Amino acid sequence: MYSLRRERKEDWWEVEALYDLCFAPGRTALSSYRLRDGVDPVARLCLVAVAEDTGFIGGAIRYWPVRVGGAPVLLLGPVAVHPTTQGEGLGAALIQESLWLAREDWTRVLLVGDAPYYGRFGFARIEGVEMPPPTNPERILALELAEGAWTGVRGEVTAWHGAGGG
Ligand SMILES: CC(C)(COP(=O)(O)OP(=O)(O)OC[C@H]1O[C@@H](n2cnc3c(N)ncnc32)[C@H](O)[C@@H]1OP(=O)(O)O)[C@@H](O)C(=O)NCCC(=O)NCCS
Repeated sequence: MYSLRRERKEDWWEVEALYDLCFAPGRTALSSYRLRDGVDPVARLCLVAVAEDTGFIGGAIRYWPVRVGGAPVLLLGPVAVHPTTQGEGLGAALIQESLWLAREDWTRVLLVGDAPYYGRFGFARIEGVEMPPPTNPERILALELAEGAWTGVRGEVTAWHGAGGG
């Protein structure tokens, strides 16, 4: 049995190890990581799925604030589930719970990922939002947490501190 809780400071390296295991080598060289450099994650939304008996972290999700055309946007990811517990709904639980929490302070969410997976949570391809290259535009997906939140919000995705502070 797994339960979700907020990621704690002391979880950081266990979560990093989980991401290293689940993603291809060199993940931090991806352009999306440049948006995270030197910016604190949105701690309230970073969750871990913890095995109730052993304390093992079987899944994790983190979020960073970014800007699109200067407007505040929540960048979802990385999210990963340990290979031994994939396909049991942990990924969905982490995504759904964190998005529910996000509704309190955020209206628009962005991610770079597989549309066939994220479509089930309401994410869809968005045109006119440019991640730092090289990013396959097909993988740039967006979700509105409030109706019309993405209307008129287009342009380059930039780091949170790179476009007007915050
Ligand atoms: C993607 C990931 C987080 C999903 O977590 P999970 O706990 O296995 O997912 P769930 O149990 O909620 O959902 C499983 C379903 O998603 C599907 N799925 C998983 N990854 C998928 C993908 N990349 N594209 C399409 N479908 C995918 C599974 O086939 C399964 O389908 P089913 O419900 O029809 O059987 C996990 O597989 C993982 O860590 N993968 C490696 C890292 C990664 O790719 N992270 C996402 C970055 S874009």
